[in-house]
Amino acid sequence: MSAEIFDQLRTIQQDIEAYPVGNAAELEAFRIRFLGSKNILKGLFAEIKNVPNDQKKAFGQLVNEVKQSAEQKFEALQESLSKAALQEQADSIDLTAPAIPLYNGSRHPVSITLNRITKIFERIGFTVAEEREIEDEWYNFGAMNTPEDHPARDMQDTYYLKDSKQYLLRTHTSSVQARMMTTTKPPIRIIAPGRVYRNETISARSHCQFHQVEGLYIAEKVSFADLKQTLYYFAREMYGPDTRIRLRPSFFPFTEPSAEMDVSCFICNAEGCNVCKHTGWVEIMGCGMVDPQVLTNCGIDADKYSGFAFGMGIERQAMMLYGIKDIRLLFENDLRFLDQFSAAY
Ligand code: PHE
Repeated sequence: MSAEIFDQLRTIQQDIEAYPVGNAAELEAFRIRFLGSKNILKGLFAEIKNVPNDQKKAFGQLVNEVKQSAEQKFEALQESLSKAALQEQADSIDLTAPAIPLYNGSRHPVSITLNRITKIFERIGFTVAEEREIEDEWYNFGAMNTPEDHPARDMQDTYYLKDSKQYLLRTHTSSVQARMMTTTKPPIRIIAPGRVYRNETISARSHCQFHQVEGLYIAEKVSFADLKQTLYYFAREMYGPDTRIRLRPSFFPFTEPSAEMDVSCFICNAEGCNVCKHTGWVEIMGCGMVDPQVLTNCGIDADKYSGFAFGMGIERQAMMLYGIKDIRLLFENDLRFLDQFSAAY
């Protein structure tokens, strides 16, 4: 009886060695037969009770060897089959097929406009200063001559940080003026581009976030004529050599005198169109001479130094340049919209 069992085991061993496996299905059949939960070795294990005691050990060893040889064959076949599959996949790649074109992306119209503005001012010696968007109310309002009960604070409808009267999302880039004047000795000649926030109802014409570029020039004997000349240069570089400018008296707490600057409408050549609402002029920015009180607030000697400042919105200019009718398009990141812009800037 026991010799028979040993023979059976040897036959199984031979079967394992001879079993033909050429593909995944045959490998699976092999696994089920020799290693699966109902494999044929299991039946033999039950026979161990019929093996004489002095042969039990040898029998057990042989069963294990047979099992191991099945496992080894299975693993070796598994590896060579998966290599073959990979090779087959590699062989099927057509190396001569044309490549899929890379998507290059495009610049955002706000970036293009901002970069143009920045370059124009850099050419006349302004350097870029960037500052934080979460501001201390002092730099956004206090230093800029806008006391706590000043209507401008309401007017600008500010986003304060939760439970804070001190920290807010800056409502204009003029906060960068205050920071620069506080930390730098004149002469100061900077432009400060960046994002600003106002709690406004979102519509086709206004958004609760937008971008501004601030300009600040502080030195000895800076005059209103310097301001005017600088802005005239900017307007012609930005909107063409025939562009004219117009300064209208205005009010800002931090400049005195203050003005608003219009440029002649470059779309209709000042003849009247929808963009300029048939006036021939489009408003571009606020500006003025830095109020001496602001200089003092920021630790600059107002008897020795004077300066001018200006601040302009970017979105409105981008919308005019590209004929964009709804400001919301600029914040939606819809590729069908964005893909239409390209620029070397
Ligand atoms: N900060 C002003 C605004 O947001 C613009 C401005 C800047 C006006 C600098 C004068 C001087 O409307």
